[in-house]
Amino acid sequence: MGIEIDTSTPAGVQAALAALAWQIDCGVTEFIGDDPVNAYDLPEKSPWSAKPAAAAPQAPTQRPQAAPAADFTPQISAELRQQLAADVGVAAAEAAARAAHDLKALREALAAFDHCELKQGAKSLVFSGGQPSARVMILGEAPDRDEDLEGKPFVGAAGALFDLMFAAIGLSRDSTDPATALYLANVMPWRPPGNRAPTPEELAMMRPFVERHIALANPNIIVLMGNAPCAALLGAKGILRLRGKWTTALGKPVMPMAHPTDLLRNPANKREAWGDLLAIKARLAS
Ligand code: URA
Repeated sequence: MGIEIDTSTPAGVQAALAALAWQIDCGVTEFIGDDPVNAYDLPEKSPWSAKPAAAAPQAPTQRPQAAPAADFTPQISAELRQQLAADVGVAAAEAAARAAHDLKALREALAAFDHCELKQGAKSLVFSGGQPSARVMILGEAPDRDEDLEGKPFVGAAGALFDLMFAAIGLSRDSTDPATALYLANVMPWRPPGNRAPTPEELAMMRPFVERHIALANPNIIVLMGNAPCAALLGAKGILRLRGKWTTALGKPVMPMAHPTDLLRNPANKREAWGDLLAIKARLAS
């Protein structure tokens, strides 16, 4: 048996949406009514914009008749349901990230977070690698197949190139000295199917965790490797245009640069990537 909400008022509509959001939060994916619904009979226009029909003009001597009741039957479109699920996910991510007071707690909060669908298809949560005390934090995109299998960021061919690139300026994920160490994380900790790019909605849901991750690790410099971290932190697209220019995000100096996977595909871009690495080295020395 369900509760009944009067949706003939704005407050009622808000209450109905809040109840719906709560159900989505609880994992509800289907709605089954007591009576069969012929979907072809549903009104074409959204009931939220339905206005009561104007009352027919009355003779002055007649008592005014009540206007026919508007049909406010909630008709939840797939888009609205998706939007609600995304909003609920962002709110849940914000609450979970805010409650995490250290990196261990943040990892546990991510492991318990069920609102991002990518988690269902991934084998591992790829939380971080390297040294959390490092002055330089690398933010990558999302795990590929190798990272998903191993549960670590930047392994496989791209990881090998990554290590060579940073070794060339004296930085390593294996160093325990904060001055020469690297700390690695991704803006999406679960592998998207087929290694596709995370969608803007998926990135928005993970952003509270990324912000908290940066706040807890507190690096001096952040390197954004590839398009997804630029989209997540800078709200900007086009790594080839953004790369090599220092900017600021969350109060930290940020350097966007090409992702090692792109450099493996387009070796001609390695020359510019070398310039970006030298800019990082100079900033650390200054
Ligand atoms: N690409 C990334 O951005 N991160 C990884 O961990 C692996 C590949």
